[in-house]
Amino acid sequence: MFDALYPIARSGLFRLDAEVAHHVSLTALRLAEKSGLLTLVSPAEEFVTPVEVMGLKFPNRIGLAAGLDKAGNTIDALGRLGFGCIEIGTITPRPQAGNPKPRLFRLLDHEAIINRMGFNNPGIDAGVENVSRAKSFTGIVGFNIGKNKDTPNENAASDYLTCLRKAYPVADYIAVNLSSPNTPGLRDLQGPEASARLLDTLKQEQQKLAAEHGRQVPLLFKVAPDLDEKQIRELSQVFLAGGLDGLIATNTTLDREKVATHPRASEAGGLSGRPVFEKSTAVLAAFSSQLGSRIPIIGVGGISSLDNAREKIRAGATLVQIYTSFIYQGPALVRELAAAL
Ligand SMILES: Cc1cc2nc3c(=O)[nH]c(=O)nc-3n(C[C@H](O)[C@H](O)[C@H](O)COP(=O)(O)O)c2cc1C
Repeated sequence: MFDALYPIARSGLFRLDAEVAHHVSLTALRLAEKSGLLTLVSPAEEFVTPVEVMGLKFPNRIGLAAGLDKAGNTIDALGRLGFGCIEIGTITPRPQAGNPKPRLFRLLDHEAIINRMGFNNPGIDAGVENVSRAKSFTGIVGFNIGKNKDTPNENAASDYLTCLRKAYPVADYIAVNLSSPNTPGLRDLQGPEASARLLDTLKQEQQKLAAEHGRQVPLLFKVAPDLDEKQIRELSQVFLAGGLDGLIATNTTLDREKVATHPRASEAGGLSGRPVFEKSTAVLAAFSSQLGSRIPIIGVGGISSLDNAREKIRAGATLVQIYTSFIYQGPALVRELAAAL
């Protein structure tokens, strides 16, 4: 029923400003969950085909990518739609407002989005509290963590450490975002020395926290699709040497080649959706050939069909995530992927 209603809801939502539509949708989902409406719609148990990765049991292979539920306050509702994993965030130590609006643009004919949100989020304390309040979701909750905009890169590790420590008790995994194009300088942390230093610091803390909590929470890095072969080789060495638990490939792209003629093409920010699929999958495949089966990869970037998802898995992904196609196609796609993968 919900799947059938989505095209109608979408035609209304797409008349609104993109960010307003985002807030309206999440609020409506939360209300539908609270009122019990979503329970009628979807027994999430239908979509359980468990897969064990990084020591965690994922109910299925399809996850919601970071950035949609930044605050982690819509987990139960999103879980009802069939996602086996919800990655909340990016969350920073302190709350921040993000970039000035408008900062979110639809490129309808490309089934794409350009965003320069800039980590608008309520801060790690609120994120932890929200996640603790989730009740019905039995899947995997990942915490995607970042640094505040006004924290210089030299102190970035301390922001990631703060988030790691606070999220650890409630997170199933922690994803370290090194790849948003909307926080100036963030992608420099993907350099070989900077990433090795950061990984080492975070792995040491993870070991301490694991001893303290009696539970190992896997640590993942999320990378950009705008990496060349040399960077991928160097980063892979860093990840293997440093004992990274998992990789998320990829974030949004700065490349506008695929949308060059679109009137919105020159908006600053990261491009997601269909136009990023090829590039993102090539980067995933390149990482996979370096890492083999030693570090599992979550494939994300431009998946808009079951075929796309299968291609990510063929390229080396164990799990997949979506964001932009969920906005365009709604829950029907989640269910299709959850059932078929
Ligand atoms: C509006 C928007 C906000 C996003 N915010 C984040 C974020 O806060 N952290 C992050 O790691 N990725 C963020 N992403 C990137 C997505 O998680 C995903 O990596 C990217 O969009 C590619 O997947 P897709 O083509 O399925 O959308 C965002 C994407 C969009 C469209």
